[in-house]
Amino acid sequence: MKIIMLGAPGAGKGTQAKRVAEEYGIPHISTGDIFRANIRDNTELGKKAKEYMDKGLLVPDELTCDLVMNRISEADCKDGFVLDGFPRTIPQADALTKALEEKGMSMDAAVDIEVPDENIIGRMAGRRFCPKCGATYHVVALPPKAEGICDNDGEKLVIRDDDKEETVRNRLSVYHKETQPLIDYYKKAQILKTVDGTKTADEVFDGIKAVLS
Ligand code: AP5
Ligand code: MG
Repeated sequence: MKIIMLGAPGAGKGTQAKRVAEEYGIPHISTGDIFRANIRDNTELGKKAKEYMDKGLLVPDELTCDLVMNRISEADCKDGFVLDGFPRTIPQADALTKALEEKGMSMDAAVDIEVPDENIIGRMAGRRFCPKCGATYHVVALPPKAEGICDNDGEKLVIRDDDKEETVRNRLSVYHKETQPLIDYYKKAQILKTVDGTKTADEVFDGIKAVLS
């Protein structure tokens, strides 16, 4: 199964993509996680990506597309994968469609997790993440077992650099301009599935399994 998770920043793409990956036994590919790992390791890509991410802007397509195309060519992706945070622009979607077409393949589903902007700011303010394993929590909705500590590895949880309210507002406006048109793109491709993202994380996951079955 080859799945795209669509949705605004904070809609729950990462939370749900991890569950989908586990359920279907396919790799979870998050461009945001890849960029954050590069920032942490201070690579050339990380240095370039950080300039854009800290402002809430998109990293340019030329830094993003090849990265994803190479990743989905790896052996563990042969039975499918779940893309989280890619594509995010029409040129990225075209690059993905073309790369798959060349292999005689296409995406199976694009799942749009719908959450209104007014819910997003509160979600981001409460988000905490583990800099070591990337696990994501929310102080109220999805808290770790011990406050401020990752359940998986005991690492101290941190706030993402781009979760400041002003940056979140920029990310939302970039989302509406650059990424929301992909909803129509995948509707035309007849693979769009929509789920209500305002429910609890478990209920949203049930909704996703229902539309994928
Ligand atoms: P990325 O890391 O992809 O960030 P994003 O799209 O802004 O989305 P988030 O990760 O913030 O949110 P999410 O939808 O994954 O929600 P989450 O599950 O964490 O990208 C970051 C940056 O990298 C971009 O701004 C851009 O600069 C760059 N970038 C990445 N990909 C790119 C690309 N393809 N092209 C160009 N640039 C790119 O949930 C959010 C919070 O809510 C959490 O605290 C969570 O615990 C909580 N939560 C989740 N579900 C629920 C629920 N049902 N109820 C209540 N709380 C919930
Ligand atoms: Mg995410």
